Amino acid sequence: MSDHGAREFDLLIIGSGIAGTTAAITAAARGLRVGVLSKEPEIAESNTWYAQGGIVGPSDEDTPELLEKDIVVAGDHMNSIDAVRLLVEEGPPLVESLLRQELGVNFSRNASGEIDLTREAAHSVRRIYHVLDMTGKAIEEALVRTITGSGSVTIFPNTTAIDLITNVHNSRDAQEKYRHLRVIGTYALDNASLSVNAFFAPHVVLATGGVGNLFLHTSNPDGATGDGLAMAYRIGAEVLNAEYVQFHPTVLYHRDAGRFLITESLRGEGARLLNHSGDYFMDRYIPDAADLGPRDEVTRAIYREMEREDSDYVRLDATHITGVDLATRFPTIYSTCGSLGIDIRKDLIPVVPAEHYFCGGVKVDLQGQTSIAGLYAVGEIACTGVHGANRLASVSLLEALLWGRRCGNSVSDEHRRIGATLLSSIPEWVEPTVVEEFDPVLVNQDFLTVQSTMWNYAGIIRSRKRLTRAQADLDYMSHRIEQFYRGARLTRRIIELRNSVLASIIIVRSALANPVSRGCHFVE
Ligand code: FAD
Ligand code: SIN
Repeated sequence: MSDHGAREFDLLIIGSGIAGTTAAITAAARGLRVGVLSKEPEIAESNTWYAQGGIVGPSDEDTPELLEKDIVVAGDHMNSIDAVRLLVEEGPPLVESLLRQELGVNFSRNASGEIDLTREAAHSVRRIYHVLDMTGKAIEEALVRTITGSGSVTIFPNTTAIDLITNVHNSRDAQEKYRHLRVIGTYALDNASLSVNAFFAPHVVLATGGVGNLFLHTSNPDGATGDGLAMAYRIGAEVLNAEYVQFHPTVLYHRDAGRFLITESLRGEGARLLNHSGDYFMDRYIPDAADLGPRDEVTRAIYREMEREDSDYVRLDATHITGVDLATRFPTIYSTCGSLGIDIRKDLIPVVPAEHYFCGGVKVDLQGQTSIAGLYAVGEIACTGVHGANRLASVSLLEALLWGRRCGNSVSDEHRRIGATLLSSIPEWVEPTVVEEFDPVLVNQDFLTVQSTMWNYAGIIRSRKRLTRAQADLDYMSHRIEQFYRGARLTRRIIELRNSVLASIIIVRSALANPVSRGCHFVE
């Protein structure tokens, strides 16, 4: 053991999106020394940063019962009722007390100076707080500002967690194998120097976000590669509902555009989907709710319509909207589309569905505790059961905020230390003796293969035949990638590839094990 002490904390959090930073702020306020790792050089870069639509907050029009009903209907009645009840009671007040009052997030207001409540699909009332169309950025900036200014939080940017450290898997003391499994830290790569260090804490929180990049088309930024899911699975943590992968109906389709979401709240303000020929079609698929039906149903309707017309995209029409100045209300969408020659006030917006959110994940309880002692999971990588088989819009940020808060408090309540003997029995990371250098062409090709396999065989519409093919192809790749990983000089990209293929296998196995179509798991 060398300088373990420099990287030893009361609480270690992997991920600095809304879930990780909220847990950090909470535990630091309770007197814990907290370490936060992010694989990004800029720690605000995360799925959280790109959230557009908003977060469910308190509203006079709303009641916990009504919110519960909407979440459960969207989730196709597969939700954990305990988790949903907790969320509807404790979530919205936390938006007011923590985000608005304590951290000063400046939610948009209407002409009368009240919070401007917006609407998204499958919500029966207006209850969504937003900051124009850049809600995630405003929230993440406030959270990052707070942890950066805290003397109790040490931040390690550009640091990629590789694998969790446990007493059973990693200790040199053979007796530890016979004790209960416990997570006590993580090995992590310094992306700049390519050196690997051990970080320790008696409580480790996975807050690593989503899995978008397992799929060819996604609304997520590049870092969403399912790292937390793979890390937890490798040490035997329980995983739940992994077949429920949500696709967002409207991501911009344009040759020159990167991934760019067109928020559901544009439909909430009246925009309508038209097919390639320019005809309105949603009422044929979802007669009662049309464009504002649950996200899984709208996505499948678009898929079917594209199939029927043999087209690559459909169009979103906001041109008829009056009463809302689109350029002021949706400035990011207005300017991004504008830069591509699309004036959303006058032109139709080409859109396609893309992977957006992972409803399943590492199984946790109401405190974010996983099935393994010392290991917690919060945010998109965790499965609390709130979302069931399909997530209601603007509930993800809320769930991450609430579970981040509860996890931070729970860890502070049961604060403990790792024994010195156990700590000193953990070896430094061992480099492979024969080191294979990183070849970006090989790694990129492997990534592309994983992504197209998942998109084509485990995407919006699945079949047993496609899933079986996906499993065989991914198993073969996993074997090859694992061998390569063991002899390679590690880079962030190699770590992500190894995690992506395992996370994909977890999703495909769950999908194969569940022949029943519910929510966003649809098997033909
Ligand atoms: P993230 O915010 O994704 O943070 C993950 C963190 O983990 C990052 O810091 C990352 O660097 C780090 N990390 C990952 N792997 C490693 C590793 N191996 N080592 C070290 N660090 C690692 N939800 C809503 O409720 N309302 C919305 O309006 C909304 N809009 C959205 C729009 C877009 C375009 C997208 C992509 C998502 C949207 N969502 C929305 C979903 C929501 O933003 C996410 O579910 C939520 O932000 C996830 O938060 P998180 O803290 O769990 O993860
Ligand atoms: C959106 O703004 O359409 C995304 C909202 C969400 O994912 O909750």
